[in-house]
Amino acid sequence: MGYRVTLIPGDGIGPEVVEAARRAVDATGIRVDWEVREMGARPFAATGDALPAATLGSIRANRVVLKGPVETPAASGLRSLNLHLRQALDLYANVRPCRTYAGVPSAYEDIDLVVVRENVEGSYTGWEFAMGTVEAKELMRFIEETTGRRVREDSGLSIKAISAFGTERIVRFAFEEARRRGKTLVTAGHKANIMKFSDGLFLEVARWVAADEAARRVAGTHPEIAFEDRIIDALCMQLVQRPERFQVIVLPNMYGDIAAELVAGLIGGTGVAPGGLFGGGDDGRDLAVFEATHGTAPRLAGTNRADPVGLILSGAMLLRHVGEREAGDGLEAAVADVLAEGAHVTEDLRAAGDDRPAAGTFAFADAVIARL
Ligand code: IPM
Ligand code: MG
Repeated sequence: MGYRVTLIPGDGIGPEVVEAARRAVDATGIRVDWEVREMGARPFAATGDALPAATLGSIRANRVVLKGPVETPAASGLRSLNLHLRQALDLYANVRPCRTYAGVPSAYEDIDLVVVRENVEGSYTGWEFAMGTVEAKELMRFIEETTGRRVREDSGLSIKAISAFGTERIVRFAFEEARRRGKTLVTAGHKANIMKFSDGLFLEVARWVAADEAARRVAGTHPEIAFEDRIIDALCMQLVQRPERFQVIVLPNMYGDIAAELVAGLIGGTGVAPGGLFGGGDDGRDLAVFEATHGTAPRLAGTNRADPVGLILSGAMLLRHVGEREAGDGLEAAVADVLAEGAHVTEDLRAAGDDRPAAGTFAFADAVIARL
């Protein structure tokens, strides 16, 4: 019996990059029983449901998912289908590793860091009040009463909420991620100087967790992990100036969204950036959905031109997650070899002036499989 994994092809370039990743994972020799389930615009067009119960049921039963990007159908009434999935399953930790690979055009070398993003609260609560509505006016009245300051009437309001509970679990998750990766530094980003009660709480709890993690550490089992914090704007500057000094960065939801893409830009773009969403169980790793950072790229759909690296590397993360560390490392090494060699890379990875023909999505996957 192999590992049972839910496979979600998704929309746009999703089916192609997911198929390329599935072939690459299979080629490691680890037996996976893929259970294909739909999510996104296709099931919505057929049944009016973008996230069918059969898909949720499969995810809940298998606990491990490889997922392509999905489109949020405008008529679905959902703010975002991705957000809906993450909140429905309480996938509170989003792990986005970013490292430089030889052969991928980038201005940097030696970046090897991980963004650990809180993924269900913060600015993504979805508690929003449109300009001019009774609810917005009511809330404005409350704000005026309690603060003595008026909100401009023609304002829309979005509520950001950061809890001690949500912060403790994401920061502990970040420390555990550091231990697993042999990292020795966790950096927390925030805007505690301005948002004293949301980001301020995040910082306070993060410091407390860091002290507690240090106190609980059993000498000799893992290297000591240092902790520091940075105000988010300064962190962005330092990420651009000296990304190689960072190891694990833990961030509230929205800053994590932005920083993950910033860092992906440093290493060659979202095409090569993998990721995992985690939640459940004592350690937050009972349920895991692996997906790349990129979206559906409808322009490239069906053309065999999309870059499958992000999804193949997400597949490598999946293998490590189920306990197949060697196979996961082997798959990542095969991808790194093909990138370094440069003969079979997709067009997005061709540096200006490199006239070699670009490879298609599946030719890249085949080159990885040949390496394996
Ligand atoms: C991401 C995306 C999502 C986010 C969108 C699609 C909801 O940008 O996965 O980073 O904002 O989290
Ligand atoms: Mg994003």
